[in-house]
Amino acid sequence: MTISAIKADIGGYPGHHSVHPDLIKTAEKELENAKKAKLLIDYRVLACGDDLQLIMTHDKGVDSKPVHKLAWDTFIKGTEVAKKLKLYGAGQDLLSDAFSSNIRGMGPGIAEMDIEERKSEPIVIFMADKTESGAWNFPLYKIFADPFNSIGLVISPKVSRGFSFEILDLQERKTVTMDAPEEMYHILALIGASGRYVVKRIYTKDKEVGAVTSTESLHQIAGRYVGKDDPVMIVRCQGNFPALGEVIEPFAFPYLVKGWMRGSHHGPFMPTSFEQSTPSRFDGPPRVTAAGFQLANGMFVGPVDLFKDPSYDRARQKANAAADYMRQHGPFEPNRLGLDEMEYTTLPDVLTKLKSRFKKI
Ligand code: F6R
Ligand code: MG
Ligand code: MG
Repeated sequence: MTISAIKADIGGYPGHHSVHPDLIKTAEKELENAKKAKLLIDYRVLACGDDLQLIMTHDKGVDSKPVHKLAWDTFIKGTEVAKKLKLYGAGQDLLSDAFSSNIRGMGPGIAEMDIEERKSEPIVIFMADKTESGAWNFPLYKIFADPFNSIGLVISPKVSRGFSFEILDLQERKTVTMDAPEEMYHILALIGASGRYVVKRIYTKDKEVGAVTSTESLHQIAGRYVGKDDPVMIVRCQGNFPALGEVIEPFAFPYLVKGWMRGSHHGPFMPTSFEQSTPSRFDGPPRVTAAGFQLANGMFVGPVDLFKDPSYDRARQKANAAADYMRQHGPFEPNRLGLDEMEYTTLPDVLTKLKSRFKKI
């Protein structure tokens, strides 16, 4: 069975804030038809900030042409609705004109895994707004390699065997697979630089997939700034994998991520309920939501809105305090990203205009 999470920003309201309910209705109609036509086993349509999330199960495998085409056509239909409502940035993430064989490299973010559904299959789909795919590095390390986060790494014989991290070098377009705990320092040497190295997949030592992230980079595809990637991630829980509570524990600390206003700032990653995934203040702070499901023969049982829980209230308070602190720096680093990362924003256009003003010393 395949779990596919495919997402795109096809228009926000107001501005880059939220997904309009009509876009959700439109997507639900398309996916319902696909379920009736037996292309999908089941689906859910969710939203995080201004990103529309198509969560699907099917038996067509990852990178399936008909499933990717369904997602693409759904985003096109949604864009028509977004255009009628004059939503902001209608069709923003659809960077290609025509669909050929799969949706990769066309703008939407994709996280897919082929699994053999276990006797009981709890999964969490994490969704983010106003940040990039490297934002998953920190929690993935905590979940699958840090015993101070996941006690299962210490006391569960199944989990204590450790995990393999497949890491993508976004710049060189290369991948490397490393084992934790054996190579944990080397894993950190890479993934601590989350703008360049991103965790793509995590496996058990028996090669069972445990997590997968979307790693599409909009500015790389478009060659210009098109908002942040606002990634999605699927994580399997329990048994051979960390427990559900271990999987969501890292988000109790609202660590800093890149994104926020104009994709150009460091800001705290605030865990919220689905309803509160509305980046208001300074187009943020960046949001993360967690949808918990049980799978039953490919059918979604859920979602449960995992960060709605009051045990995440303190994380939200801390995120607000961190947002105050960071915002007081205004246009100064490190609230603003470093120059190398600003390369992909609209800042270079401003700097080019200033070039002729400089005199040699
Ligand atoms: C960040 C984001 C927003 C926009 C900002 C300016 O990912 O989407 O912060 O960058 O609102 O948007 P434009 O340039 O469309 O006016
Ligand atoms: Mg947007
Ligand atoms: Mg977004």
